[in-house]
This record gives sequence, C-alpha cells and structure tokens, in this order.
Amino acid sequence: MSNIGIFEFQGKKYEFPVEIGTENEIAIDIKKLRGSTGGIITLDPGFKNTGSCKSKITFLNGEKGILRHRGYAIEDLAKKASFLEVAYLIIFGELPNKKQLEKFENDIKEKSLVDEEIKDILDGFPRSAHPMGVLSALTASLTAFHSHLTDVHSEEEIYSSITRLMGKFPVLAAWAHAKNEGTPLNYADNSLDYIDNLLMMMYKIPTTPYKGNPVIKKAMEELLILHQDHEQNCSTSTVRLVGSSHASLFASISAGVSALWGPLHGGANQAVIEMLEAIKEDGGDVEKFINKAKDKNDPFRLMGFGHRVYKNFDPRALIIKESADAVLAELGVDDPTLEIAKHLEETALKDPYFVEKKLFPNVDFYSGIIYRALGIPVEMFTVMFAIGRLPGWIAQWREMRLNSEPIGRPRQLYIGETKRDYVPMSKR
Ligand code: ACO
Repeated sequence: MSNIGIFEFQGKKYEFPVEIGTENEIAIDIKKLRGSTGGIITLDPGFKNTGSCKSKITFLNGEKGILRHRGYAIEDLAKKASFLEVAYLIIFGELPNKKQLEKFENDIKEKSLVDEEIKDILDGFPRSAHPMGVLSALTASLTAFHSHLTDVHSEEEIYSSITRLMGKFPVLAAWAHAKNEGTPLNYADNSLDYIDNLLMMMYKIPTTPYKGNPVIKKAMEELLILHQDHEQNCSTSTVRLVGSSHASLFASISAGVSALWGPLHGGANQAVIEMLEAIKEDGGDVEKFINKAKDKNDPFRLMGFGHRVYKNFDPRALIIKESADAVLAELGVDDPTLEIAKHLEETALKDPYFVEKKLFPNVDFYSGIIYRALGIPVEMFTVMFAIGRLPGWIAQWREMRLNSEPIGRPRQLYIGETKRDYVPMSKR
C-alpha cells in the first residue's frame, strides 16, 4: 500500500503522507493541506473523522469492542489492578513496581490537605448547587492557591501538580457533596487507601462511627478503573485543548469537569436514573418510552444507549453489568427502577431500530444503577465519573505538554453575510 493520500481538486493533484499507527489505524496527515492548496480546509463537525493528536495512552476499537491502556486489556486492569496502579500506568506509561507505587501513593497523600480558605469559596455556593459546578469551580481555584505550579514546561512542577490534584480532587468532590447535604466537611485520612478514603469522606458523619463495606469498595474501585481513560472524548479533548494554550493543569482539568457534566457525555449516568424514574412515575410502560425514542419528531432519547465510538458493544458495559448483578445480589438491593432498567435493556436490544443503528447500552446505563445501589445520590454520579476520569485527563494533558503540541485552533467555513454597509439606527 502506498503511504501517500492523493486529493484532486479542479484538475490539480495534491499528495499527503499517510501515517499508520501501531494497531494499523490509518491517518492522512493533512497538516500541509491549507498551505499547499492555497486555503482549502477540511470540514468535520463533531470531529467524527478527525484525529487531533498522536497518543500512546489508550487504544480502542469500537467495532470489535476493544479497550486497552498502554497495551493492557481493560478486562485485566479492572479485575487485577488497584485504582492508583492503573492511574500510574496511564499517566507514566508503565505498570509501577512496589516501590514506585508506594512513592506515588505517599506523594498523593502528602498533598491531600486542602487550603482552609477554599471553604470560603464553598460557602458562597447555594446549598442546591450542582456538585459538578462546584467541583469545576473549586478545581479551577487551585490555580490561585498554587500559583507557583503553573510552569507547564517543568516536569518537576508537572509532577507536583499531578500529585496535588490527585490528592485534593476527591476531597473537593466530597465537600461538594457535603454542601448539598448540609453535613460537616471531612478531611482525607492518610491511613486509608485512595478508594477507602474517598468513600469515608463521602459517607462519614460525626454522629456515627464510619465503617467501610468491602463489597461497596470493590465495586467502586472497579467502576472508577473502568472510567480512567477513553482517548479523545469530549472532556479529554477539552482538557488537551485548554492545556494547549499552556494553561495550568488545574485550569485545564476544571474545563474537563465542565465538559463531562453534559448529559450527552458523563451526565448521562444521572440522566439514566432520571429517565428510569420518569418511566416509573408514568406507570412503567417501557414500550411507550422505546417508541418515543424511535419517533423522529420526539427529542427523547434512551439515555445510556448508543456511543460515538462503540458500535457493537461497550467492553466496560459488559464488565459493569456483571458487577452490577453481583453488587445488587450481595447488598440485597430491591429497587423497582432496576426492574424497569432490565426490561428496557431487554426490549431495546431486540428492537430493530436499536439493532440496525447499533445502539447498545453504554457504560453509563449500568454505572448509574450501581451508584444508586451503593447509596450515591444522583447528583453525585457524574462527580464519581470525574474522579475516575481524573488520571486519564492528567495523562492526556501531560502527554500533550511533553510532546510540545501546538495550540489548538480549528478553522471554520464562514457561511454568514458577505460585506455590507453599516445601516444607521434611524433606517433599520
Ligand atoms: N436513543 C434513540 N436514538 C438514538 C440514540 C438513543 N440513545 N442514540 C442515537 N440514536 C439515533 C439517532 O437519532 C440517529 O438516528 P438517525 O441516523 O436516524 O438520525 C442515530 O442513532 C445516530 O445517532 P447520533 O446522535 O448521530 O450518534 P452520535 O455518535 O453522534 O452520538 C451519543 C452518540 C451522543 C452517545 C448518542 O448515542 C446519545 O445521545 N446517547 C444517549 C446519551 C448517552 O447515553 N450518552 C453517554 C455516552 S457514553 C459516555 O459519554 C461515557
């Protein structure tokens, strides 16, 4: 196969190099398109065909349902590794040995204390504030509290920002939750591991001794590992784009949290439960809602179904589904919404509309169900996703920085008015 892509326009031929990735993915390198053609650009709304970078972090094949981080299968990582082990792998490229993992964990613990003045910012939010908005704002505020850590050219400072963010982010998430609940703010406990610590900060109240539950911990750790990275999705591309202007890690991740919030992305796990509740309130007629989703004149979509990249199955959804069944059985959860979820899943998977369009339950369909069974409030679902995704955002931001990638600045096709004369107010 020739490694040249040819483009012909108005009788002239232009040649472009073709790059082949380690998994034989093929990309036409159009970096010189505009320059060599005298201004032609590509148009690709939603970036369905556009690679924004070269990356060594995550490989996914949506047709075959493959997801690997740094070459390791997600199925292995979810079952055999700890959250911080996978985070180290994703961020630094190799599985850590015992000493490297201990150092990473200790560096994170050392930096987990959050400045007391951040509580003043938290105080300013209404109690009803959505925790994703609060988390995004508090994460951005870290830039102000650690202004010395904004040199994005120093590997040392980047490492320091990474450990600070990994340590403080779960604390800020737990504080956003406490704000909603009206409960006192918990601090991290360095005698606990990352996941136990997160759960303790989420659930502990001063009046009752906190006791961890190993079933909840295992389910939570697996869920968060499954969310760690997913290559150039909306929030990750946001983090890379913001970081490409040399904004700090904290500012870039804060933007990623905002991008994740939307219901077409990370907010889908909350939207799934809200949809199941709505179906229940409406009398539980699953077919009615399936028909609504199929109706082109109705904006309703089945939340938790479909994926931009996975068109056969979402490998994370398979792992989560298994673990959802186990968790529900072990915790003895009896929730009518879950029955609706099962019925919806079975009906949609048999329906020609969903089969033909390759719309399968995605990771968010099941994650919402597990979070609910674990007692996490609905508004916190996307926050849990953000905690899981943090190492991926960091890894992608670090890779972008170390590759010295140029500032991201897409082009556009202008379709507005051509030049016209100013019309004075009296004549409009
Ligand atoms: N319910 C009903 N129809 C759907 C759904 C759905 N959930 N998803 C896609 N379709 C239909 C569309 O109407 C469209 O039909 P058409 O070809 O007749 O116009 C076709 O399937 C393709 O849909 P697109 O929106 O073009 O697919 P795209 O790849 O752009 O979108 C997305 C993917 C955003 C995930 C979409 O499937 C969706 O909105 N799903 C529901 C929200 C959701 O679960 N998001 C979580 C994604 S996973 C994550 O972010 C972690």
